[in-house]
Amino acid sequence: MKKKNSTCKGIILAGGSGTRLYPSTLVTSKQLLPVYDKPMIYYPLSVLIQAGIREILIISSPHDLPRIEELFGDGNHLGLKLSYAPQPAPNGIAEAFIIGEKFINGDPVALILGDNLFTGPHLQALVQKAAETTSGATVFGYEVQDPSRYGVIAFDENGRPKEIIEKPKNPPSRYAVTGLYFFDHNVVNIAKTLKPSSRGELEITDVNRVYLQNSKLNVTIIDRGYAWLDTGTADALHKASAYVQTLQERQGIQIGCIEEEAYKMGFINEDQLLQLAERYSSNSYGHYLSNLAPGKVLTKS
Ligand code: DAU
Repeated sequence: MKKKNSTCKGIILAGGSGTRLYPSTLVTSKQLLPVYDKPMIYYPLSVLIQAGIREILIISSPHDLPRIEELFGDGNHLGLKLSYAPQPAPNGIAEAFIIGEKFINGDPVALILGDNLFTGPHLQALVQKAAETTSGATVFGYEVQDPSRYGVIAFDENGRPKEIIEKPKNPPSRYAVTGLYFFDHNVVNIAKTLKPSSRGELEITDVNRVYLQNSKLNVTIIDRGYAWLDTGTADALHKASAYVQTLQERQGIQIGCIEEEAYKMGFINEDQLLQLAERYSSNSYGHYLSNLAPGKVLTKS
């Protein structure tokens, strides 16, 4: 399914200190570590592309930002318009909207955390619908075994969301808020009113709470047919890699393949796709890309 481009902009927040993955992240960004066969940040970028979003701001630490910029450049090769901004210190997820104020420029905006990996049968339709909404906010709830590690949604007796609590000791439900959020233009002003939490951060949960209190928060539950994977620890990262490998091998499809998603969205044409494929012509990633363009052959093999 291909759709018209969204007016919604996108932000990937890819900073943080990555201490839980030391020593792997002593000198490199967590979001550049591989999840099986591609850098972690490919996965959230592929979600924004599927949402039809072409204008994307990538925020990371001053140390890691140049490497990420080296990886993606201006995004033109993917039919994207990418820009970059540093976050001098990890002051909280909601700071992304303050850093990104000029970029957002009064438009709706999606935020995705650079370490969040989503996959599922109707992901594209789900995110395109959220990107089309110009009023209020959309967050996604996902049932997990260990909700106290996340923002958690409490529901009233009619199943409507009544509260969102960050890392509750006694979770009111098993529904965690994932790291993918869609907001209308009010998010910048809301972020500016926030005070740092007890852990010293501008909390995304506090932003969501404002939308909830104003009856402007849509909570979409993503069911078990979808995977929302954690990459926060060495174990979780390893399992995420194994999951991607298993699914890709079994089904012969790619997860988080930015070139494929850009092609499917019509952001790039067949010739551009093949040019990208040529860069990887010696491996299966390149062959996969070239096979997406029927009737064309790579000049190199
Ligand atoms: O993954 C979803 C969860 O993300 C939500 O359920 C929580 O409500 C939300 O607060 C957040 O949970 P964490 O607090 O555990 O996120 P963490 O601090 O691990 O940061 C998530 C990613 O964002 C991580 O890759 C680092 C990056 N980050 C984080 C902060 C606080 C930044 O780039 N800058 C920051 O200031």
